[in-house]
Amino acid sequence: MDQPIVLPGLLELDAWREQSRELLRRGIEPGRVEWFDPRDPQGVLHATRAGELPPAGGPDRQLQLPRVPRDFLNLAKYVLCHRDPAKWPLLYRLLWRLTHGEAALLSDAIDDDVAAANAMTKAVQRDAHKMKAFVRFRRVEGDAGASGDGRDTSERYVAWHRPDHPIIGLVAPFFARRFAVMRWTILTPLGSATWDGTEISYGPPATRDQAPTADTLEDFWKTYYASVFNPARINPAAMSREMPKKYWATLPEAQIIEDLLANAPGRTQAMAKRAIGTEAGGAAGYVPRLPADTDASIALPQLAEAAEGCRGCDLYKDATRVVFGKGPADARIVIVGEQPGDQEDQAGEPFVGPAGRLLDEALEAAGIDRSVCYVTNAVKHFKWTPAPRGKRRIHAKPDAAEVRACRPWLEEEIGRIKPDIVLLLGATAGQSLLGAGFRVTKMRGRVLRDTPIAPAVVATIHPSAVLRSPDEAARAAAFDELVADLRVVADLLASS
Ligand code: URA
Repeated sequence: MDQPIVLPGLLELDAWREQSRELLRRGIEPGRVEWFDPRDPQGVLHATRAGELPPAGGPDRQLQLPRVPRDFLNLAKYVLCHRDPAKWPLLYRLLWRLTHGEAALLSDAIDDDVAAANAMTKAVQRDAHKMKAFVRFRRVEGDAGASGDGRDTSERYVAWHRPDHPIIGLVAPFFARRFAVMRWTILTPLGSATWDGTEISYGPPATRDQAPTADTLEDFWKTYYASVFNPARINPAAMSREMPKKYWATLPEAQIIEDLLANAPGRTQAMAKRAIGTEAGGAAGYVPRLPADTDASIALPQLAEAAEGCRGCDLYKDATRVVFGKGPADARIVIVGEQPGDQEDQAGEPFVGPAGRLLDEALEAAGIDRSVCYVTNAVKHFKWTPAPRGKRRIHAKPDAAEVRACRPWLEEEIGRIKPDIVLLLGATAGQSLLGAGFRVTKMRGRVLRDTPIAPAVVATIHPSAVLRSPDEAARAAAFDELVADLRVVADLLASS
């Protein structure tokens, strides 16, 4: 009887993948491996050393390692975050079977191993969803001063959360994107994560008393929650299912839910009045930053209202107003520009100035009706510098931090509309949604399919680039190229 092979169970997908590939290369069957929790100090004492593993099956075997389906890796990412140590033998067994004649295994939902992995995935996804929804940051004192990029480093935020599974590594990247401009730490009894504005570092488990309990942000959250609370949708049973009691202690808004429910009929009336315009809709004006997981039932107009209070960067200080997106909530195309210009800033609507008129012309030439598109911008405030003489305000390009700070609003818009196609106009829109490596010249006119943003994404130049053409001939050529790219969108629309 062969000696069991005892290995540390790994939590991180890439490391786990490497370890499993090594086992496969050496032809080690699942029944021979035992895993221990790497946090268990006793486990290490029994661990099998690398030198004691059976030899690999030779270079041929390495070359022949079958490809693992992408679905399996996606499943493994979640299963590895489950708290049950049975996940390690389960995953390796699945991997072994997938690579030993059962390539279609994952589609057999009643197979015991597949069913167990699916159940673990569901539990972890539910836990991750709750963490996104219920983490609440509180401000604490940090180091005085400002960072190199001008951010105030004296602001720090800390949250305490109690997940059921060790999901901090799974969820922290979401918070890094969503709260990119804050410096924050999330403490949990299963590990902690800190974002310094550039990268995430992971730390040890924490206890409740390490997290602050109250601060001035509390009022912001309460007011925000009161503003987005939609009494027309209230279902108390579903609410307590969605917001289990164990999270209530850390939720400022939990303290006001009863009052909100008590006042619900009054608020329903007020909301209805506002919707039909008989009561002035006041700006929310107090949301410091977009909450982690805004309720998907919050409609676009309320989201736009909440954006008026955004202080994620400094652009609000010199702009007249937030210019949110405009168009049908079920638009099949979302068009994303850079930022409102001078006229948009005054009108409060995107693309109504010279670039907007050119966009209208180009859309018409391509056969796209603008009224069925939702038109918005990567950055919602006008950034400008004063002209050397006179009162003119000169457009200034938003920097990477400003684009990052605004991205959550854009993601929320697209997330609600769920368009078939997202059309990106220019580098800022492209970099906001596709990353810093995006280049219009390389990407224009191509269709990116099945992206996390939308089923199809197309990029083209910004209409202002046409307006900046040095002469009439160059302008006509640039316009024709823009229209050609827009025809790609028109064809997609017609065929989907
Ligand atoms: N340019 C943009 O990118 N967006 C506008 O809304 C107007 C001009």
